[in-house]
Amino acid sequence: MTSKQACSQTIEVLEQQFGGREVSFLQGRGGLPYVRLATSKGHSAEIYLHGATLTSWCVESSGEQLFLSDSAIFSAEKAVRGGIPLVFPQFGPGTLASHGFARNRPWHVVESKSNSSECSVALQLEDDEGTRALWPNRFVCRIRYSLSTKLQAEVTVSNTDRQALQFQWAFHTYFKVADIAATSVRGLSGLPYLDNLKSKQSFVDQRALATISEEVDRIYCDAPDIIEVLEHEILSMTIEKNQMPDAVLWNPWAEKSKGMSDLAPDAYRRFVCVECGAIAKPIVLNPGEVFSASMSLATP
Ligand code: BG6
Repeated sequence: MTSKQACSQTIEVLEQQFGGREVSFLQGRGGLPYVRLATSKGHSAEIYLHGATLTSWCVESSGEQLFLSDSAIFSAEKAVRGGIPLVFPQFGPGTLASHGFARNRPWHVVESKSNSSECSVALQLEDDEGTRALWPNRFVCRIRYSLSTKLQAEVTVSNTDRQALQFQWAFHTYFKVADIAATSVRGLSGLPYLDNLKSKQSFVDQRALATISEEVDRIYCDAPDIIEVLEHEILSMTIEKNQMPDAVLWNPWAEKSKGMSDLAPDAYRRFVCVECGAIAKPIVLNPGEVFSASMSLATP
């Protein structure tokens, strides 16, 4: 499907093709379409077709788990500030715009499923004239979000080109926290990290718990597959990643936030980004090969 065809996925057409009791299609902020997943057990999630960005995940017993900036801009040109923006094919700055183009493109829905305990939706982005003008590669990228008591995100990137494909990938998840000063991250102790604030110099984090009391922007390499977010040293979120070696810890803190038009000056106090990805060593796929990775999020 081309992006022209993707645009023809009106809410009515989406509802007819993929809608059901647990899966509905609605018009959201900025007039952009989104899909809402809602289980009979009271869990819900919202995913915009714009960037396939998941903007909300509510757990029945404990409410919203993700941070979404009150000043987030919902427009075709801008990435959403919050939720889970998808980073592809480039992490950070480079020849493409920051974090690549996937988070700014219209994705299209290709599948939805539901049963008594889980519902899911899959969205796809493939190369078109627009992406090839920026990045001359043919690919198909698919993401499936499944909602049960957990939230699972599975990604595949297929190389449909005749040449090798090289890219980075990350789930740029913004976890909502009550107070950044009381937040810590477990699982990064003893790991080498590249410090984005110090020209990517490498250091080792020796702290048992990574706390955040100033701007932090680090790529932890070969991080364990289980990483935990704690509030007041009590577990609030378990992140399980597969086939993504790296984890980024990011919070812009006060000064950096002032320069961000889509983030209120004190909003940095209410989130921490723990991003799972394949970043330090880009993925290389030969023609016909497929990269698969997944992330699962669960509250205690
Ligand atoms: C993080 C990067 O992943 O994303 C930071 O490590 C960057 O360097 C941050 O500032 C936010 O990026 P953006 O493009 O969404 O403002």
